[in-house]
Amino acid sequence: MGWSRAAILGVIGLVAALMFPMPKAAGPSYDFHDESCPTLRQMVHDSVEEALKEDIGIAAGLLRIMFHDCFPQGCDASLLVHGRYWSETSWPQNKGIRPTAMALIDTIRAKVQNPDACGPTVSCTDIMNLATREAVMHFNVPGYAVPLGLKDSLAPADLARIWELPGPDLSAAELLQRFATRGFDVADVVVLSGAHTIGRSSCSGFQDRFQESTSFARRLRANCSSDANRLQDLDVTTPDKFDNEYYHNLLAGKGVLTSDLQLLRNHTTRWWVNNFAQDQGWFFAQFGTSMSKMAHLPSSEAAQYGEIRNYSCFWSNQRWLTASA
Ligand SMILES: *[C@@H]1O[C@H](CO)[C@@H](O)[C@H](O)[C@H]1NC(C)=O
Ligand SMILES: *[C@@H]1O[C@H](CO)[C@@H](O)[C@H](O)[C@H]1NC(C)=O
Ligand SMILES: *[C@@H]1O[C@H](CO)[C@@H](O)[C@H](O)[C@H]1NC(C)=O
Repeated sequence: MGWSRAAILGVIGLVAALMFPMPKAAGPSYDFHDESCPTLRQMVHDSVEEALKEDIGIAAGLLRIMFHDCFPQGCDASLLVHGRYWSETSWPQNKGIRPTAMALIDTIRAKVQNPDACGPTVSCTDIMNLATREAVMHFNVPGYAVPLGLKDSLAPADLARIWELPGPDLSAAELLQRFATRGFDVADVVVLSGAHTIGRSSCSGFQDRFQESTSFARRLRANCSSDANRLQDLDVTTPDKFDNEYYHNLLAGKGVLTSDLQLLRNHTTRWWVNNFAQDQGWFFAQFGTSMSKMAHLPSSEAAQYGEIRNYSCFWSNQRWLTASA
């Protein structure tokens, strides 16, 4: 049937505009780049598809980048930028952020900002959010609304904010409480954990489980002791497919991270796990809603002082110019 991609995204934008009304001033909007960069979505789409053909793991990489960027202080690509003394990726919370997925964001920036394309009109933040949506849509998950016209931060986020990222060893109550500080409810927490359907973790992310005596935990430990650098699939049945198998696995006692298992310990989170296990369509629809919520986490800092990084997503313009002077 002949719905073009642009028309579908247009409808999504319209629905989103009703759900999240935004002032029609110079601030962010869903159609921010429609006139200044009409080919933006196509360029992002083509680059992401090409990258996923080489390495499907880029999709999980982008999802993790967006979450780890947006959670601490709103979406502002602060995760990518080199600070004067350190970068956000220097801290243990951001261990395992994929360099290839970060590089893809800057590769797309260079294409988009080429003078023959759109020039320096689109931020690294917008590209990160659009590229992540393309990666999700690659798996036939419906699209969702992403506000555009966001600015890039001048520096990494405050350390205190980075330490607020939820770790893999939190209890259900701690997990829910941590997400609630950013306006996420129980459904958001359970559905965003569903991104683990294509996720991987290093062994250090679940070593707290190695004393357990279940056969599944013993196998996890055995696999890690034979290869300490192993990247463990978080969805042990269909690791490269974005589907609701992650929830089936949880219910079958095959959850990998402590934070995954915790979703079964609280009856409200467990209720959502059951729903998403029974109904993949519900999982997909809620996933889009929660991703859109994440894209809407505003960075007041970048909105006020931010810029469009126009030399590299890894350097603020000022620092790039002084470093290369
Ligand atoms: C452990 O490794 C084996 C061999 O690679 C694999 O078949 C099995 O699925 C792994 N177990 C888990 C829990 O990932
Ligand atoms: C589960 O989480 C909900 C929502 O945070 C909370 O109200 C409830 O008390 C928790 N239940 C248990 C058994 O921990
Ligand atoms: C990049 O932006 C800075 C302002 O942040 C500006 O001075 C510079 O001319 C821009 N460079 C390009 C190539 O657009």
